Amino acid sequence: MDFDVKKEVKDFYGNIAKNVEVEEQATCSCCKKPSRAERLYAGQNLEDIPKEAVTASLGCSNPLVFAEIKEGETILDLGSGGGIDVLMASKYVGKSGKIYGLDMTDEMLELANKNKEKMGAENVEFIKGYIEDIPLADETLDAIISNCVINLSSDKQKVYDEAYRVLKQGGRVAIADVVSLKPVSEHIKKQAQLWASCISGAMPIEDYIKILEKSGFKNISIEPNHVYTKDIIDGLSFDKSLISEEELDEMNGAFAGAHIKAWK
Ligand SMILES: C[S@@+](CC[C@H](N)C(=O)[O-])C[C@H]1O[C@@H](n2cnc3c(N)ncnc32)[C@H](O)[C@@H]1O
Repeated sequence: MDFDVKKEVKDFYGNIAKNVEVEEQATCSCCKKPSRAERLYAGQNLEDIPKEAVTASLGCSNPLVFAEIKEGETILDLGSGGGIDVLMASKYVGKSGKIYGLDMTDEMLELANKNKEKMGAENVEFIKGYIEDIPLADETLDAIISNCVINLSSDKQKVYDEAYRVLKQGGRVAIADVVSLKPVSEHIKKQAQLWASCISGAMPIEDYIKILEKSGFKNISIEPNHVYTKDIIDGLSFDKSLISEEELDEMNGAFAGAHIKAWK
């Protein structure tokens, strides 16, 4: 890669986290379009989740609908951002369970911890670190969730090797991530802003399966469920002068949000 992936991604999400409260105040509720969270978490009770966690939602789906989280389980969310999935999952695992949120970006961790305090969620712990080097002991987790994060890593094999290490035998990953459905030009793949926007780092499904298998996972399923149209890509926050109209056309249908599930 021609750029420092971690630095670009940290700067991108650090800025978003810093602006969450400002955006919340600046948005006029009378003319508001449904937010990303309202779309992704439709039908789920978001009422007791702090509004800053909801506003900061940056996922591509809702991993909680297929993670089958049960009371008493110990769960980890990779790249927890403002904490929406962690706080939602804290209700499912209950007082006898525990949920960790792992993120590398200080501003996101600060926001997530404020949201945890607002909600009074005692079974939640946000930890600083990299998803490629998970700061937890071997075989301690029942499940790992994640929402639109693993595509951002430049070493996805390491992420899944680490996930496998920290899962208990029989544990599972339930991951919402972006996958690539057809090749795009090298020029598109080299754009740091498109990488940080969860596009350029996405892998083909065949490569994704190979990585999961190499880490040791079994019963792997990857289901694309939300194909990105040209309009969706155009709506992402990156400098549009970086790519041509032809390249935007090339990206039409080339990426999709997907549900990934696999067992140790
Ligand atoms: C697209 S946001 C998703 C946040 C959250 N999962 C959600 O659904 O709102 C990506 C998050 O992953 C974090 N992240 C990206 N790469 C990471 C890495 N290698 N290690 C730890 N955190 C990372 C970013 O700091 C950011 O908070």
